Amino acid sequence: MMALSLSRILFCVAALSASANADLTSLVNLFIGTGSSGNAFPGAAIPHAMAKVGIDVSTAPRQAGYLHDNSSITGISLMHDEGTGGNSNGGLGVFPLFPLTGCNFTSCPVGIAARAALRAAGADAATPGYFTTTFVNDIKIEATSTRRSGLIRFTYPTTGPNHVVVDLTNDLGRSFSGGSIDVSAAGRVQLGGTYLQSYGPSNYTVFACYDFTPPASVSTQKISEFGTYESKNLTTPATITITPNHTNLNFPFTATVSPEQAGGLIAFTGSNTVLARFGVSFINSDQACANAEAEVPDWDWEKIQTASADAWEDVLSRVTVNTATEDATVVELLYSSLYRASLVPANLTDENPYWDSPYPFYDAFFCSWDTFRTVHPLLSIIDPKEWSEIVNAYVDGWRHTGFIPECRANTKPGYVQGGSDGMVPLGDFAVKYGSRAADLGVPIDDLYQALVDTAENTPPDWLTVGRQNTAWKTFGYIPTDWVDPSGAVGLPTREASRAWEYAVGDFAVRQAGIALDKAPGDVVKYSNRSMNFVNMWDANTTSDGFSGFAQRRYPNGTFAPSPPNACSPVDPVSHSCARGTDNDVGFYESSSWEYSFFAPHSMSTLVGLMGGPANFVTRVDHYFATGYFLAGNEPGFAMPWSYHYANRPDLSALRVRNVLYNNFNTGISGIPGNDDSGAMAALLTFHILGMYPVPASKQLLIGSPLLSAYTLRNEVLGTTTSFSVTGFDKAGLQATPAAGARVFVKSITINGHPSPSLCWIDFDDVVGGGNIVIEVYGDATAAAAAGCGPGAKALPDSLATGRFPCMIYPRSALYVSMCRRRKRMLGSKHTVVSRVCRYKVYLGFENKQDGIYCTLQGFEVLISTCTPVYFESII
Ligand SMILES: *[C@@H]1O[C@H](CO)[C@@H](O)[C@H](O)[C@H]1NC(C)=O
Ligand SMILES: *[C@@H]1O[C@H](CO)[C@@H](O)[C@H](O)[C@H]1NC(C)=O
Ligand SMILES: *[C@@H]1O[C@H](CO)[C@@H](O)[C@H](O)[C@H]1NC(C)=O
Ligand SMILES: *[C@@H]1O[C@H](CO)[C@@H](O)[C@H](O)[C@H]1NC(C)=O
Ligand SMILES: *[C@@H]1O[C@H](CO)[C@@H](O)[C@H](O)[C@H]1NC(C)=O
Ligand SMILES: *[C@@H]1O[C@H](CO)[C@@H](O)[C@H](O)[C@H]1NC(C)=O
Ligand SMILES: *[C@@H]1O[C@H](CO)[C@@H](O)[C@H](O)[C@H]1NC(C)=O
Ligand SMILES: *[C@@H]1O[C@H](CO)[C@@H](O)[C@H](O)[C@H]1NC(C)=O
Ligand SMILES: *[C@@H]1O[C@H](CO)[C@@H](O)[C@H](O)[C@H]1NC(C)=O
Repeated sequence: MMALSLSRILFCVAALSASANADLTSLVNLFIGTGSSGNAFPGAAIPHAMAKVGIDVSTAPRQAGYLHDNSSITGISLMHDEGTGGNSNGGLGVFPLFPLTGCNFTSCPVGIAARAALRAAGADAATPGYFTTTFVNDIKIEATSTRRSGLIRFTYPTTGPNHVVVDLTNDLGRSFSGGSIDVSAAGRVQLGGTYLQSYGPSNYTVFACYDFTPPASVSTQKISEFGTYESKNLTTPATITITPNHTNLNFPFTATVSPEQAGGLIAFTGSNTVLARFGVSFINSDQACANAEAEVPDWDWEKIQTASADAWEDVLSRVTVNTATEDATVVELLYSSLYRASLVPANLTDENPYWDSPYPFYDAFFCSWDTFRTVHPLLSIIDPKEWSEIVNAYVDGWRHTGFIPECRANTKPGYVQGGSDGMVPLGDFAVKYGSRAADLGVPIDDLYQALVDTAENTPPDWLTVGRQNTAWKTFGYIPTDWVDPSGAVGLPTREASRAWEYAVGDFAVRQAGIALDKAPGDVVKYSNRSMNFVNMWDANTTSDGFSGFAQRRYPNGTFAPSPPNACSPVDPVSHSCARGTDNDVGFYESSSWEYSFFAPHSMSTLVGLMGGPANFVTRVDHYFATGYFLAGNEPGFAMPWSYHYANRPDLSALRVRNVLYNNFNTGISGIPGNDDSGAMAALLTFHILGMYPVPASKQLLIGSPLLSAYTLRNEVLGTTTSFSVTGFDKAGLQATPAAGARVFVKSITINGHPSPSLCWIDFDDVVGGGNIVIEVYGDATAAAAAGCGPGAKALPDSLATGRFPCMIYPRSALYVSMCRRRKRMLGSKHTVVSRVCRYKVYLGFENKQDGIYCTLQGFEVLISTCTPVYFESII
């Protein structure tokens, strides 16, 4: 006893000092996924920053501005998206600066094409809070930043005169639609412009402020000349006039994008460096200046960079590992992923141009379709404070527009991809933090109303927000070729995948209703609707010998099948698989083969529809073997874990490793698809930690981690939970571990008590502050036989098996009388019911017979016949 606790104390001390010395920011590789398709942003930013300062390449695709190749650079700009798809030219990238040397003022090459310059080989470098590169002409660029402001420094080969271009018109998308610039002799440049968002139909207006006159104690730079430039003629916009001493240009808003080249030009002497301070704002350029003055008051580079690194250290330190002994690649992947998962959403609090509100405002929900699966669940575990603000911003979006935002991109609603998937994080918040919502500043009744409104109402045009609830409620599925009599319009494609996502959205409302003690009638309704995905299950469609697939359906109920492999990576025929009207497959960015596995709230239903656990396993294996799995996109995220639902966590353990090591690495192509606002980063984090979250629930699937031990810190709860893996085996850290590698979970204990399952763990335990010990072994045969364990609760929850049982009624006279009433109806056989029922009533569905079950210790009673009376009497 004594010896044991002593060794535990020693272990804790060692772990603490290891993490204290770790300097976790040094473990972040900002260039992972910056080579192709990852679209990761490697520039300077604090966590959830509005200002994301980075260099922009001349070639497309350049969604985040940057590409780790030898393409030329057109400037260093102030805001960027992270990891997104959308317009391949990118969005934001506004108000770039560009350093020039060796030119005469009125003949400097200021235009975007003329000025573009190559970087010296291997010159790009970055750490959290800092970015630098050097051009072939030896001009060095550096940046560091705060939430809305920062510093950019150019170091030239000589003291000049050197020049800096301040570009008004070239955002990344080259979508200038009007704006203005004011240049003052005192070295302040104020800009405002309107540009198109990177994913969506709208424009947005943004402002910036540059100051070029640092205190003498900071720099000896002097402005020797200044002026503006503009295209001589829009037919030949590259022909440019530079006007010395000119202070203002104003271009009225135009409905079409302008090719205008315009901005300011400033010449410097007195130093070989030019230091620029910037601020950004979505309100006006005076606020941009005020932001810079407030956040970078003394132009102190070290102070800003250190504060940024410290902010990152705080975020990264919420997960600690022994960096000296764990696998170095896993450690680099972990901290680089944690980094990218906290770049967005962007904190635009006090910068909301659309409505006044006391609540936080966040941008870059781009899109909730991408982030609901992994980003929000990760935030729920280690970043609850940040998450509360983000959730509040979602709720405030509903408060002012009537619907939960789905794909807010560059401050405006972007295109809805599938369901209104912002519903899922809101349901998740209610489930996990509903009881603490007041402390966290989230008006939880508003959150619930936001869910209900989004689940019930249909906007006149559901292109950028909301769902086609008219169809969903009328048919219980999303019909193909239906003219909505309500007049509501949207983009009527992706019928099957939308319906399956609507079902998950309704499950989120159901879960919130239970967690928040809302009207049981709501719970019944949304439980029921969340099972409607089965209405788009076409038992008659077959593929590769498997039958039963999600398919489109006409209003008359007849299915409109498409080949289940359509839009899979091995589709033999070319199909359109995006949102457009040319998508006649019914699925968005995925195939029927893949979407037919997407019912995370009732996987047992799918296991049943696919012919039972053994057939389900065969089918998942076939899906991977045939190439239907697309590692680089969200619909496949949960697939490596799906064997859990067939009682085969051993197969998940192997598949997670296979998927991870074949698709992720620390290189510039180390992300298999778009990072998508951190979605891939959060996914990789979960794989490494050996968990996968079930949407809008407290359940996480659990497996064997890729680390021998780690801790998770939750600042709101004040807890640090320690995970350790007994028998951890580095031989398991590869795509195909050799037989005998200890990658299978043998037992799990939570604070010394055996877990009821080897397949799932409760959120309350993950953040509970205790010790979770996962014992692993290499005996594949034993692991296959053991499955999720012997207990009745071993399999992960599914609605169809009456699980997700968490309808906790408070003890109250109302419920006592309710129970008496039910007791009367149920007869004397269940006399024990009323006593137990005063404490708990569990609601759920049985697949054997539709209806509402009241599951009481040892009893399972069908109460569907008395349900309407019973529920109406409560409401
Ligand atoms: C850039 O890299 C590509 C591919 O490696 C190569 O073909 C090209 O010549 C390089 N261009 C320059 C300017 O170095
Ligand atoms: C700058 O102007 C001077 C004097 O007119 C001229 O000699 C020189 O060639 C010019 N330099 C450039 C880079 O245009
Ligand atoms: C613009 O340039 C084009 C082509 O050089 C010329 O035809 C046109 O007249 C110019 N327009 C103006 C307003 O100068
Ligand atoms: C710009 O203004 C300064 C100061 O008034 C003056 O010395 C200089 O000659 C002006 N430059 C031009 C090109 O007019
Ligand atoms: C920007 O969008 C608004 C509507 O969102 C529209 O009224 C306006 O004309 C657009 N402005 C430009 C410059 O495209
Ligand atoms: C977001 O910005 C607001 C306003 O500055 C600040 O109070 C809040 O702490 C920020 N949130 C995060 C997560 O940094
Ligand atoms: C949902 O309700 C409808 C209408 O009452 C019913 O037909 C259907 O069977 C219910 N679905 C489930 C899964 O209980
Ligand atoms: C499946 O095919 C059978 C036989 O052709 C038919 O009777 C049945 O209605 C079909 N089911 C569906 C859901 O289309
Ligand atoms: C249902 O509608 C589709 C599309 O209009 C049509 O092809 C099909 O024949 C209809 N089925 C029945 C049973 O009427």
